[in-house]
Amino acid sequence: MKNIDSKGHVRGESIYLDDIPMRVGTLYGDIYDAPCAHGKIKSVDYSEAEQFPGVVKILTHQDVSGENQIGGIFPDEPLFAEDEIHFWGMPIALIIAETEYIARQARKLIKIDIEKLPAIVDPKEAKAKGSLIFPPRTFKLGDVEAAWEGCDYVFEGSADSGGQEHLYIETQGAYAYLMENGNVRIASSTQGPTAVQRTVAKVLGVPMHKVEVDVTRLGGGFGGKEDQATAWGVMAALATTALKRPVKIALHRMDDMRMTGKRHPYRSDFKIGLNKDLKITAYEVTFYQNAGAAADLSPAVMERTLFHATNSYYIPNVTATAYSCRTHLPPNTAFRGFGGPQGMFVMESAIAKAARELGVEPHEIQQRNLLKDGDEFPYGQIVDHAEALSTWENAVDKFKLQSLRQEVDDFNSHNKHLKKGIAMQPVCFGISFTNTPMNNARALVHIYSDGSVGVSTGAVEMGQGVNTKMLQVAASTFSIDPAKVKLETTNTTRVANTSPSAASSTADLNGKALQIACDKLLERLKETAAKVLKSEVTYILLQDDQVYCEGKPTELSWEQLVQAAFLDRVCLTENGHYATPVIHFDKAKEKGHPFAYHVYGTAILVVTVDCIRGTYVFDAVKLVHDFGKSMNEHIDLGQIEGGLVQGIGWMTMEDLQYNDEGKLLSNALSTYKVPDIYSVPKEIIVEALETEGHEMAILKSKAVGEPPLMYGLGAYFAIQDAIRAYNPDYQMKFDAPFTPEKVLNGLYEKSNVSVPGV
Ligand code: MTE
Ligand code: HPA
Ligand code: MOS
Repeated sequence: MKNIDSKGHVRGESIYLDDIPMRVGTLYGDIYDAPCAHGKIKSVDYSEAEQFPGVVKILTHQDVSGENQIGGIFPDEPLFAEDEIHFWGMPIALIIAETEYIARQARKLIKIDIEKLPAIVDPKEAKAKGSLIFPPRTFKLGDVEAAWEGCDYVFEGSADSGGQEHLYIETQGAYAYLMENGNVRIASSTQGPTAVQRTVAKVLGVPMHKVEVDVTRLGGGFGGKEDQATAWGVMAALATTALKRPVKIALHRMDDMRMTGKRHPYRSDFKIGLNKDLKITAYEVTFYQNAGAAADLSPAVMERTLFHATNSYYIPNVTATAYSCRTHLPPNTAFRGFGGPQGMFVMESAIAKAARELGVEPHEIQQRNLLKDGDEFPYGQIVDHAEALSTWENAVDKFKLQSLRQEVDDFNSHNKHLKKGIAMQPVCFGISFTNTPMNNARALVHIYSDGSVGVSTGAVEMGQGVNTKMLQVAASTFSIDPAKVKLETTNTTRVANTSPSAASSTADLNGKALQIACDKLLERLKETAAKVLKSEVTYILLQDDQVYCEGKPTELSWEQLVQAAFLDRVCLTENGHYATPVIHFDKAKEKGHPFAYHVYGTAILVVTVDCIRGTYVFDAVKLVHDFGKSMNEHIDLGQIEGGLVQGIGWMTMEDLQYNDEGKLLSNALSTYKVPDIYSVPKEIIVEALETEGHEMAILKSKAVGEPPLMYGLGAYFAIQDAIRAYNPDYQMKFDAPFTPEKVLNGLYEKSNVSVPGV
């Protein structure tokens, strides 16, 4: 089945926030934000801006009727700065004007007097100064200290990875207006409608039932709207409540890039111990997460880093410690993979380092340590349904790793200034919110009297195709034509108390809730059918829009059955609730069974490096992925391609630059490069691993949103492999992204010779 949104998208008919018709009297908001990263506000002069024609009001923390607080996990993030500035881009005031243009002009007229304070941008510096968001956590398996002695080889190093701008095509925004009795309705570009609702209620000081949040779809979220869509929704709601006129806020790209948090940059130190047979016997890693100025989702992101610290490998002795470091960057937040990629990059770096020192290929170490059923993850979950080896072996066989290697070597021996490199990238990603209580969802289904169906769930469509998947669940459960099913907007009055659409779990959680609702309706309809056909429920089957009795089609169609049920006063509306079974986690012990299941896969990446320019092209990425039984191959393939390219971008060209004062320098698309069509691998081959699927995945179709991003990690190591072919003196460095500038330095560095100016 095609993505139900594809026609709307290509015709430009799909409704995003900016496509909602403006109500008469709508006002526009623009944010005045901090022009430095750390300081004390001595005074702000709004007088000139206030007098600018068309400016209606400037709202600050003093206009907040409830709490000036938007922190989701910890209450450490003011909506508007009060006395202190914590990051460059921190909102200070909201300018409301008759037009957006006027608001932006007025913004330039605001004057601020700040006592500047030194800014911390480096997480290790923050840690050294005791600036942590919350106490560190450690996951442990076996006994690393005791294990070092028994290791034949021990290597140490460090590995750093940079942040990543989400670059959703639709920037952050919200449109709020009053309903009757002071109730407020907000159209928000958010992955978490309930998060917006809850926070609006808190900031306005009203109960949640006075706040309705409605989401049609997002022009991308990628984690950037899991928590950080909230502020703009809250501001719009605050202004509309204060001014009794509709208020729209939609950030300009540069404002969005400056004010919002990104993927967390990490710095990390590792120590890896191996035996002669290349088995990894011990691994110690310390992560320094650059959380930015407030907690936001950092505790949860840090937790997932720990969960994925050993990627697809079984290591009997592990100690992984993580510090969430408070710096003066905008609060960093969820980004596809949610801390997992940062953890896995260090593991892969440790393996690459060990391989280099031992003179073997990294894949020899990778392959020997892949997870098998019965192995234990450092967090206590026992591996089952492991597909690490099967995806690996399939990739090696199907894509002929040996001949690929041979081709690369042949090419390298025949070319002086072009060198190819190759890397294998296995991935293992846990599916479920790591915070167990979040793993539940609801769905609301109406069957209208004409047989058409309306479906509401807590799932937010952000391009990942979840609406199509929900429609498939309803249509297949009822066995009716998908054209009879409509996906409603995601709305807090129809489906309440939702978790954000995140953790790749949206289709599983909401789909299972939807199945439950549909099954209940189906049972009721079967009772009606049995009554009409004077048979028994057990003999009734609904198939292809038709009622079957004792295996034979009857005269009764789906529509007629629904009509009969309606006339018999049967309730044609149902609610479904699903809470993932089995999962649990004990934070005191750092042990449990946090994931419903894991998604596995193995990619082979081949790159060509231009050794004069330091530029590179990915020739091919060939991978075997564990989809389970994909319920929609088109959509899932799109997720693989998009995730892979986003991962390669993070590892190679996406280079967030801040100066020492904490100012974002790469603040536009001219200075921040993301993959475009030319940087996409020339060939992408995706093979599905054949399996039975997993019961805890919706229709046995495994979650696919985030795992493929981590295939992109291999980009770093493929480039390293190519550099090594050109420059045997190259010293392994693990400092992503591997920009052409760094590649060039690597190509020409000489051992023990320091290059002047470098
Ligand atoms: N795909 C598109 N097109 N747009 C997005 O914003 N977000 C990613 C992934 N794929 C995203 C996407 C992220 S971060 C997650 S967690 C999942 O989709 C969320 O959707 P799912 O739970 O339905 O997989
Ligand atoms: N993934 C994504 N988002 C989340 C998670 C998670 O594990 N936990 C809380 N928010
Ligand atoms: Mo995705 S980072 O869990 O929104």
